[in-house]
Amino acid sequence: MLDLYDKIQDAVGAIRHAWDATPRAGVILGTGLGSLADQIEVQASLDYADIPHFPTSTATSHRGRLVCGNLKGLPVVAMEGRFHQYEGYPLKQITLPVRVMQALGADVLCVSQAVGGMNPYYQPGDVMVLDDHINLMGDNPLVGVNDDRLGPRFPDMSAPYDKELMEVALEIARRENFVAHKGVSVAVTGPCLETRAEYRFLRMIGADVVGMSTVPEVIVAVHCGLRVFGVAVVTDMCLPDALEPANVDKIIATAGSAEPKLRALFEGVLEHLANTGV
Ligand code: HPA
Repeated sequence: MLDLYDKIQDAVGAIRHAWDATPRAGVILGTGLGSLADQIEVQASLDYADIPHFPTSTATSHRGRLVCGNLKGLPVVAMEGRFHQYEGYPLKQITLPVRVMQALGADVLCVSQAVGGMNPYYQPGDVMVLDDHINLMGDNPLVGVNDDRLGPRFPDMSAPYDKELMEVALEIARRENFVAHKGVSVAVTGPCLETRAEYRFLRMIGADVVGMSTVPEVIVAVHCGLRVFGVAVVTDMCLPDALEPANVDKIIATAGSAEPKLRALFEGVLEHLANTGV
């Protein structure tokens, strides 16, 4: 069986065959948030099925292709649709695309995700810039023998999200006059939505929002040395004492309606990267 390093090289080879530019940033678009990819001046687009070792996405509202091109003047490689632990994929496979983005030359990862809001000051449709996270997936993509070519055995997690990019995003929200929180996400396995007792617990341990993705990708991004910028879109409120039954169609629709805010933050951060050259 090929080791992870060789799988990354295989995938990079297939992408390079279709696109020979060097991306500055990798972008991962979450549930209901895929249409940001329409803003990319597309130079190449590959179905996941055509990239060696990429899993194929089974989630609704995820398209399942890698889009390569320019966004706000910056070469990017964007995942339209991502993989989840609840689909049955091991975390190592879910996070392979992040390593591929880094191996293509990206030095920044921008991630978005749909989340449930547990902080009572939040509202559906709000965005939250990720400041920190809690991994409650019961697994970690770095478990196993460490390949030192890919990153250190014990990666530091004192500041997984890039402070400068966080500040750039919060300034964009102030300028554009919309609410953007800064907070902590917790990642759970899913696919069940949580019980009231679970929401109470997740809030008590310090999380503002809960989701079923992103944390594994961020762990791998930190492991391979990428700067990370993340935005969570609050699609439903998860207040244990006033919990309404979850409506998945409504969750996806709310994610879609918040997309202009997500777009403003992502485009602003990418523009900042294009201007600063770092
Ligand atoms: N829990 C987990 N993930 C979610 C939720 C939730 O309540 N809402 C949107 N994504």
